[in-house]
Amino acid sequence: MALSSYFATRIYAAKLVRGDGRSFNNSLLRQCEQIRHDDRAGQRWSRANYPSGFTSYGSMHKLHLWTPAFEALERRIRPHVRKFAGALEFDPQERELVMTDCWVNIMGEHAAHGLHLHPHASVSGTYYVRTRKNSPGLKFEDPRLDRYMAAPPRLSGCRPENQTWVTLPAVAGQVILFESWLRHAVPANRSRSERVSISFNYGWF
Ligand code: NI
Repeated sequence: MALSSYFATRIYAAKLVRGDGRSFNNSLLRQCEQIRHDDRAGQRWSRANYPSGFTSYGSMHKLHLWTPAFEALERRIRPHVRKFAGALEFDPQERELVMTDCWVNIMGEHAAHGLHLHPHASVSGTYYVRTRKNSPGLKFEDPRLDRYMAAPPRLSGCRPENQTWVTLPAVAGQVILFESWLRHAVPANRSRSERVSISFNYGWF
C-alpha cells in the first residue's frame, strides 16, 4: 500500500537512573516535601489554583538554579533532551536547548491537572519521583483535534498513532519529553497516595 506518514508527533519516555533509582528518588522526594513545607507563596497559589495538591509552578519555578539536587536532576535530563532533539532533527542554529523552568507537583487524592500546553518553551517534560500502580498517567491530545470536522470515529483498539488520546503511565524513575505545544492533562488521582513529579521546560532562545 502506498501509504506515508508526515507531521509526526513524537513523545519520548526513558528511565533516568540505573537500577531502581530508589536512593536518588528518595533524596528528591525529601527536597520536594521540604519545598512544599517552606514555600508559603506556593501554598497560597496551590490553594487557589491546584485543589488537593501542591505545585511550586507559581512561585519556585527555577529550582534547577537554586537547589543542588535539582541541578543534578537537570544534568541527568539534559542528554535525554539532546537525544529527543536529535530524533526531531532540530537545528537550533548554534544555540543550545537550555532548561528555563523546573518545578514540583505533588498531587493528593482527587487532584487533577486540566488540559494545557507550555507557552514560551520548546521541549517540556516530567520526571516521576513517587508513583503508585494506580497513579494517573500523562494524557496527550491529538494536536489536530480542532480540525477533525467530519472525521469518523476510530476503531476501538486502533493503533496508538491513530488514537485521538494517548495516556502514558506515570512510572517513578522515568522521564517523559514532548514538544511544548502538545496539549496534555493529568486525570484525577484516585489513589490515596501522593503522586510526586517534577516538570520542566527547555528553550533555545
Ligand atoms: Ni504540563
